[in-house]
Amino acid sequence: MPLVSMRQLLDEAAKGGYGVGAFNVNNMEQIQAIMEAARETESPVIVQASRGARSYSQDKFLYHLMLAATELYPEIPTVLHQDHGNSPETCKSAIELGFTSVMMDGSLQADGKTPSSYEYNVDVTRQVVATAHAKGVTVEAEIGCLGGIEDGHGAGGSGMEHLTDPGEAERFVKDTHCDALAIAIGTSHGAYKFTRKPDGEVLKMDVLIEIHKRLPKTHLVMHGSSSVPKDLQDIINKYGGSLKPTWGVPVEEIQLGIKNGVRKINVDTDNRLAMTGAIRKVLMETPEKFDPRDYMKPARDAMKKVVAQRMVEFGQAGKAKSIIPIPLPEMAEMYKKELVGA
Ligand code: G3H
Ligand code: 13P
Ligand code: ZN
Repeated sequence: MPLVSMRQLLDEAAKGGYGVGAFNVNNMEQIQAIMEAARETESPVIVQASRGARSYSQDKFLYHLMLAATELYPEIPTVLHQDHGNSPETCKSAIELGFTSVMMDGSLQADGKTPSSYEYNVDVTRQVVATAHAKGVTVEAEIGCLGGIEDGHGAGGSGMEHLTDPGEAERFVKDTHCDALAIAIGTSHGAYKFTRKPDGEVLKMDVLIEIHKRLPKTHLVMHGSSSVPKDLQDIINKYGGSLKPTWGVPVEEIQLGIKNGVRKINVDTDNRLAMTGAIRKVLMETPEKFDPRDYMKPARDAMKKVVAQRMVEFGQAGKAKSIIPIPLPEMAEMYKKELVGA
C-alpha cells in the first residue's frame, strides 16, 4: 500500500485506545529494522526523519528507501513524517518530496533552540496547515518546549522551564487546526533526561492529564520518550563506551499517557543505544572483523528488538490489518469539507 497519512493512523489509534511509536531513521538498516518489527507484530507504523536525517541521506535516498519499504511490506500502513520541521519551508519541501505528515515545530524559532512567541508559533503553524491539508498531509505542532539541546532540538535546561500551559494548548489547537499536538511535560531529547527514576516532580504527567481533559479529541504527542533502558546502557559501557548514569521515560508512564490522549510516541535514542551497543560488542569481541555487514546486521537486529517491544507496549501490535488506507487526495477533500475534526 502507498504511504498513508498520519491523521488516519492517529484517528484509528484514538478509536482503539492505543498509541503509535514514531521511530527516527537515517539509513537503510534503521528502516529495515522498523519494517521487520512492524511485520512481526502486525503494527501500523510512523517512520520519521529529522532535518539532520534528511541532510545526512540527501533526502532522496531516504524517500526511495521508504518507497521500497511500502513495496516490500505492502500489508503495513506506513507514515513518512518530518520530525521537528523548523520552518514552513522545511515542511513544504518535505511535502513536495512525498512525506505524508510534517511537524511544524514553531515552539522554537527557526534555529531550533530559541523559544518563540505564541503569535509566531500560531503564524507558522497555520501556514503549514493550509499547505499540508490542501494535499491531505497531516500536521503535528508543538506548544511548550522540551529541555536539553543534546541533539540540536530543545530550549536547553532541565525541561521544566517551558512546560506546556494547558490553557494555551487549548487556545493553540483552536487557533491552528493542527492534527496532533506535541506537549512539554519535563522530557528532553537524547540519553540524559533525568538524573534519577522520574517521579511527578520532574515528569509532569499531571500536566498531560489536564491538557487531555481540556482537549479530549486532540491527538497528543510525547517527544523525548526513549526509556534509556539500563541493559542497553550496560552493553555500551561493557564494550568500551562511556555513558554516565541516566534515566529515561518509564514505559508505564507512557502507557499512562496513552490512557490520557497520547497517540504518537517519539523514540530515537533507545534505537541509537541498541545499535551502538551491538556494534561495539562485535568490534570488541572480534577485532579481526572488518566487513560492515558483520556489525550492521547485529545492530539492525538489536534495533528491531527494541522497536517490536515498544510496538507491543504501546498497543499498536496487531492493528495493521484494521487500517484501510485513505488516499491523500481523499484526505484533502475531507479537510475541505471539515469532515476531519480539529
Ligand atoms: O528530535 C530528535 C531526534 O532524536 C532526531 O535527532 O536531529 O540528531 O537526527 P537528529
Ligand atoms: P528520544 O531522544 O527520547 O528518543 O526522543 C526522540 C524524539 O523526540 C524525536 O523527535
Ligand atoms: Zn522530538
